[in-house]
Amino acid sequence: MATKIFWILVLLSFSILSFAQASPQPPLYLGTAWYPEQWPESRWDADLDLMQKAGIRFVRVGEFAWSTMEPSEGKFDLDWLERAVTMAQKRGIFVVLGTPSAAPPAWLTSKYPDTLRIEEDGRRAVHGNRQHFSFTSPRYRELARRMATEMAKRFGHNPNVIGWQIDNEYATYSYDDYTRSQFQQWLKSKYGTLDSLNQHWTTAYWSQTYDTWEEIPIPVGWNNPSLMLEWKRFVSDVYRSYQKNQIEAIRQYADSRQWITHNFMGWFDGFDHYTVSADLDFASWDNYIGNGHLNPWKNGIVHDLTRGLKRKNFWVMETQPGNVNWQQVNNSLDKGEVRAMAWHAIGHGSDAVSYWQWRSALGGQEQYHGTLVGPDGKPVPLYDEVAQLGREFAKAGDILRGTSPVSEIAVLHSYDSRWAIDFQRHHKEFDPARYLESFYAPLRKLTDSIDVVNPAAPLESYKVVMAPGLNVMSDADAKHLLDYVQRGGHLVLGARSGLKDEYNALHTTRQPGPLAQALGAHVEQYYVLDKPIPVSGDFGSDDVKIWAEYLKADAPDVRVLARYGKSNGWLDDQPAVVTHSIGKGQITYVGTWLSEAQMNALALWLIKTDKITQRFTDVPEGVEVSRRVATGNSPREVYIVINHTTEVKHIKLPSAMREQLRGTAASLEVELAPRDVAVLTP
Ligand code: GAL
Repeated sequence: MATKIFWILVLLSFSILSFAQASPQPPLYLGTAWYPEQWPESRWDADLDLMQKAGIRFVRVGEFAWSTMEPSEGKFDLDWLERAVTMAQKRGIFVVLGTPSAAPPAWLTSKYPDTLRIEEDGRRAVHGNRQHFSFTSPRYRELARRMATEMAKRFGHNPNVIGWQIDNEYATYSYDDYTRSQFQQWLKSKYGTLDSLNQHWTTAYWSQTYDTWEEIPIPVGWNNPSLMLEWKRFVSDVYRSYQKNQIEAIRQYADSRQWITHNFMGWFDGFDHYTVSADLDFASWDNYIGNGHLNPWKNGIVHDLTRGLKRKNFWVMETQPGNVNWQQVNNSLDKGEVRAMAWHAIGHGSDAVSYWQWRSALGGQEQYHGTLVGPDGKPVPLYDEVAQLGREFAKAGDILRGTSPVSEIAVLHSYDSRWAIDFQRHHKEFDPARYLESFYAPLRKLTDSIDVVNPAAPLESYKVVMAPGLNVMSDADAKHLLDYVQRGGHLVLGARSGLKDEYNALHTTRQPGPLAQALGAHVEQYYVLDKPIPVSGDFGSDDVKIWAEYLKADAPDVRVLARYGKSNGWLDDQPAVVTHSIGKGQITYVGTWLSEAQMNALALWLIKTDKITQRFTDVPEGVEVSRRVATGNSPREVYIVINHTTEVKHIKLPSAMREQLRGTAASLEVELAPRDVAVLTP
């Protein structure tokens, strides 16, 4: 008994000690990707000192360091990593550990070549790049799990390790035989019988009928659209289980306070991110502009997309310190633009901004990428701008603690629909992501937040739900949307909505398929446009492009909001936009790709019709207003206002507000220098 008590006391004091060691976590994290394994240990102090000076509060380490962590099979060396974690801790710098499975070591791929993925053309990937593994390979999963387990055993209770990133930017597929048999199994458990599969896929067409599961191929290039869609869904499940394998290994040993995330790639649609993020604590993404400059609406929707994956705040796990190295023209962001971009992320609900990377490796594929220190180990010019952010995050952190964007408007984003349209764009410029942006941007300019969520998300809190291009619409989706409308919501469908069922087969009711009856109208025919054609009505007169659907009213109370002018004869004078009240709500159908001016008018119409709250009015062009809100014990609202232009702007505030970065007294107006930022509280 006495020994038992002794051990309990030892354990207790140990946990109190480790708890005491951890400094309080900041509400906003400034970070950087750091690769200590690429540098002599004698250099680490200097790097960490410079980070601390810049206000860096976390480093992400380890995500490509497998060959250093397991230099030969089964021989693990994590001592160096632990030393790095401790050295960071001494400076109040927390650590996010990346599991290194995106970069298997050479001993592994040489000894187990079956873990290398097979490319579409049948060639096996070679060593020397990254992501050369096969995502289904049981052997690879076992080796990756063992590595993650070793890391979790060592760092699962480390007070300075706040969380984990699994792998890095999932992206590739493998076309090997094992993957193919897994795909066939997956189809079998989904469809049960080949009859059902053959029927849903219409395989009588071009003699595609399958007599055995083994005959079904992995689609390469053009194939049956149902098969292509199922392959994407399969791949999504594969990445989910690939990730879960490592999550489970970590969870077995890690404190529950340590969170687990993955760094996604924005619009990248190689898999369904809603599926893959299901097991994560929150989502992260790597926000690169690449070529050009920050467009706050184009970039903002991607922040919102990432926030929508888990419907909670997210992290920007990587962003460019000035420039990247993988574009045709790798221009740098302007002075001040990196800072504006960081605050833009915070405005959209990110709680962290992290620069990739701290310092270039002297060799390797990315020597030209932007960094915060140069090859000489001394700060580059951008360092000071990031250090300013460090001071600002510290200053404004408390006021932003526990806050998130709250939206009255949602844009529905569905991978199924994006894939289905992309498989058969019909007009090369019908890019479903750009179509989403055309609905999002005008409304976002007039408001302070929009959610981007998947069609199955709860919708009751939204006044307006826009579903541009919801091409694949199951009966369940339609029911969910109709419920929303019946209870008083306004659903705005865009062109190409409701053409396909969940198997990517055509609905036998005209578009919008299962919602046609509720709309009281249908698409009589769609036309691809080889030249712009006129549309006029409630949203003004302008030319539309790419796509035009000839809408026909079925119910007497359908209102036509816009009509086509003289064009191909078929479309002349026909409805282009209609609306219909049903239950307590309304459905509007936009059958074309309206011009920017018309989308602006449509946005204003929605604001008025649905009484969307506009807190800031007369916001100057190029100025973005974002709002984060805390509810609960200490309710608060915080506005992040950014001048994304290169001119001075004056912004009228709805009430007297204090500027938190400069600590100015309450005022009714704020002046912002080019690319300047204000963090305002009423
Ligand atoms: C990301 C990747 C990083 C680095 C960076 C360069 O996609 O996760 O490891 O390569 O790009 O921009």
